[in-house]
Amino acid sequence: MSHESTPVSAAHFDYIRAHCEAEDALLRELKDAARAAGIPAIWIAPEQARLLQILLRAARAREVVEVGTLAGYSALVMARALGPGGRVRTIEVSAHHAAFAREWIARAAPQATVEVLLGPGAAVLPTFADHSADALFVDADKAGYPLYLEQALRIVRPGGLLLVDNAFAFGQLLDAHPTDPDVPHVRAFNELMARCDRLEKVIVPVGDGLWVAIVR
Ligand SMILES: C[S@@+](CC[C@H](N)C(=O)[O-])C[C@H]1O[C@@H](n2cnc3c(N)ncnc32)[C@H](O)[C@@H]1O
Repeated sequence: MSHESTPVSAAHFDYIRAHCEAEDALLRELKDAARAAGIPAIWIAPEQARLLQILLRAARAREVVEVGTLAGYSALVMARALGPGGRVRTIEVSAHHAAFAREWIARAAPQATVEVLLGPGAAVLPTFADHSADALFVDADKAGYPLYLEQALRIVRPGGLLLVDNAFAFGQLLDAHPTDPDVPHVRAFNELMARCDRLEKVIVPVGDGLWVAIVR
């Protein structure tokens, strides 16, 4: 074991969360309503939400793209971190998820510009202009990640951020016999990221592992 790093346990994650600003009542209400609407509780963790906001603020991001809206939790969180005139374009393949997210985004942040685009990421991303985003967050179907990376390298401006969730493959990344069928996709994608010389990148062990990268 490396002496340069502390192995992070579930207790550390609890500690991190306890020392992070708590999410507000509105975001908690959104999650309760999403559960009641039969939407799976697979949104990002509150401390990961805070990390996204800090990164977006530090990058002074205005234009953000997301693949994987779900209930709109991360889209709302990111919209709150943008300055005036900021916009989140978030892509969702499920009509049920997109409708729920639109309703809640309108209720929660009527002043924020969040566009929920219904369709598969593979069809919607190619419609975006080159260098039209300051940051792109990927949190959707794992088999699609290589294509999302290719598109991100075109859409995110040089110096912008690429953020990709689930580098730890739902906790099964290092398992000898993983049960989740997406684990091989995540492993292959992690190798692709590690080899990508157009990115300065690191996996941050928050939530389920977040790739944080800057496009060269
Ligand atoms: C993990 S959830 C996203 C969570 C959300 N980012 C959050 O933290 O609040 C993944 C979402 O991606 C959507 N999805 C799956 N395949 C997709 C695709 N090909 N294109 C766009 N969205 C997709 C799913 O329907 C689901 O709503």
